[in-house]
Amino acid sequence: MQTLTRSVLAMAALATATFAGAQQAPLKVGLMLPYSGTYAALGHAIENGFKLYVQESGGKLGGREIQYFKVDDESEPAKATDNVNKLIKRDQVDVLVGSVHSGVALAMARAAKESNTLLIVPNAGADAVTGPLCAANIFRSSFSNWQPGYASGVVAAQKGHKRAMTISWNYAAGTESVKGFTEGFEKGGGKVMKELSLPFPNVEFQALLTEIAAQKPDVVFAFFAGGGAVKFVKDYDAAGLRKTVPLMGSGFLTDGTLEAQGSAAQGVMTALHYADNLETPRNNGFRKNYALAYKANADVYAVQGYDAAQMLGAGLSAVKGDFKQRDALVKAMATTTIDSPRGKFTLNAAHNPVQDFYLREVVGKNNESKGIAVKALADPARGCKL
Ligand code: BEZ
Repeated sequence: MQTLTRSVLAMAALATATFAGAQQAPLKVGLMLPYSGTYAALGHAIENGFKLYVQESGGKLGGREIQYFKVDDESEPAKATDNVNKLIKRDQVDVLVGSVHSGVALAMARAAKESNTLLIVPNAGADAVTGPLCAANIFRSSFSNWQPGYASGVVAAQKGHKRAMTISWNYAAGTESVKGFTEGFEKGGGKVMKELSLPFPNVEFQALLTEIAAQKPDVVFAFFAGGGAVKFVKDYDAAGLRKTVPLMGSGFLTDGTLEAQGSAAQGVMTALHYADNLETPRNNGFRKNYALAYKANADVYAVQGYDAAQMLGAGLSAVKGDFKQRDALVKAMATTTIDSPRGKFTLNAAHNPVQDFYLREVVGKNNESKGIAVKALADPARGCKL
């Protein structure tokens, strides 16, 4: 009897030691982001934001240290499946964080679904990720392409514009933003006369700007981001259009770009789930810490990276770092309220943020909020069956 008690105690001690050991092993986070090409700055800002939150939390999430693995996805959908498999199969990461480009994120979502790897999308808006491809293990800390497009359309119609032209890159982010804009604008009584597009990441805008000048719409809605947005806004201004045809867009058009766009961006109005001058203790603290850590101003991409880490932290804290308790971890992530620099937000059933969209105007080197364009906007999650 005594021998039996002793061996039971020994087994219990071993189990405790093994569990504690497992808890102490760092959680492997795979960052799949663009570190080169037109979206390189966006990738770096997301990584910075993610790491800032981890640092603020003592270098751990839910008591687990974090080990990073990185892949430069080059915003190249054709390489995305191979790239994500480097993280899933070669590095055997626990969590995937990525990416910026919608086409890359679609491949990541498929691979995450197949392998049941936890995925947090910290930017790419591809509607399908939280639509037909939605899954228990897929989360987004950013937006769906439909959301800022729709909010921009609502505002453009409220401003009394009737005839709009759109211009974007011809891939999911562009086409879905334009679709969202059209829905919001036409609901408010406007009409989209013509959709212009060019392949990603082409920046030869001249012929399209000539067409806008000839058609003289009341307003132009644009989707571009990163290096392409810098060039577009400068070309629009140089073509003499900024003063004659108001330029609007999803806020990516002027986010993280103002230093390079300079005077060409002044007065451009956009809709987005973040603005630089949100005077809250949460945003002020975040911007101060980000500037101290990286000697750069925070932007929406940094916020989304920061919130991806917050989301993972909420899940890990609920299970005290025990990643094997996946159901409880996912449930905590899905039901948490994220205290974001953008303002508090929750997730819809498809795990996409339900959040306020601000109307912003470029003033100096800031995207200043001029008020809320659409409050608590939820993506319709069309095609998601969860
Ligand atoms: C996208 O591809 O989904 C995207 C890229 C940059 C900014 C916003 C969206």
